[in-house]
Amino acid sequence: DIDNLQGVVTGTLSISVVTTAQYFLPLLLAAFNKRYPQVDVKLEIGNRDMVYARLREHQDDFYLFSQIPEDVEVVETPFLTNELVVVVPERHELTLLPSVSLARLSHYPFILREPGSGTREVTLKLFQQHGFNLREKMTIASSEAIKQAVAAGLGISVLSRFSLDFGILPGVKVLEVEHFPVRSQWRLVQNANRKPSLLAQAFQQFMLENGGEILLNAVRK
Ligand code: PGA
Repeated sequence: DIDNLQGVVTGTLSISVVTTAQYFLPLLLAAFNKRYPQVDVKLEIGNRDMVYARLREHQDDFYLFSQIPEDVEVVETPFLTNELVVVVPERHELTLLPSVSLARLSHYPFILREPGSGTREVTLKLFQQHGFNLREKMTIASSEAIKQAVAAGLGISVLSRFSLDFGILPGVKVLEVEHFPVRSQWRLVQNANRKPSLLAQAFQQFMLENGGEILLNAVRK
């Protein structure tokens, strides 16, 4: 049983994660480190396309996505719901409305993530599906910089709720918009063709049993 291997599980765990995971993965790694103190970690952070490329090339033990790739054989461990929400500057006129339609929102300037970002893809697709085009005023390849840009009044954006709950975010508000939040599952992904090490098995089991719980507790605080 993997739980009895505390002293035996050693080595380096290599993980590639999409940008939003940077807000919560350190918490999970801290808890994992408590149980397996002899484990080292190598962490890569990028957009969906970058993490996807690393998955195809068998670069890491694990990958973290909320938008899962379809053409690679993977073993996936879902552990938590992800929610994409609309964020606006604190004093934006739309905050006066109880709920905002996509039609109305499409008249306002948007700040979008770069091509290759899963968040960008989901956002554009949602508007297209309902027959609207977004007014893309700015493209920014960093969710941190997007938060600052929204707070500075540059425009509206779509971000994972995780990037808000774990950050201090003065000047930014979550807007009630029809069809939002857009929900998906956070999944820990392994390449199905790569034999998992003892360490990888320990991490997968840890995430399955504790991943969601640790993060939900952190959000509640
Ligand atoms: P990303 O995240 O926008 O950083 O590519 C995609 C995802 O949540 O899977």
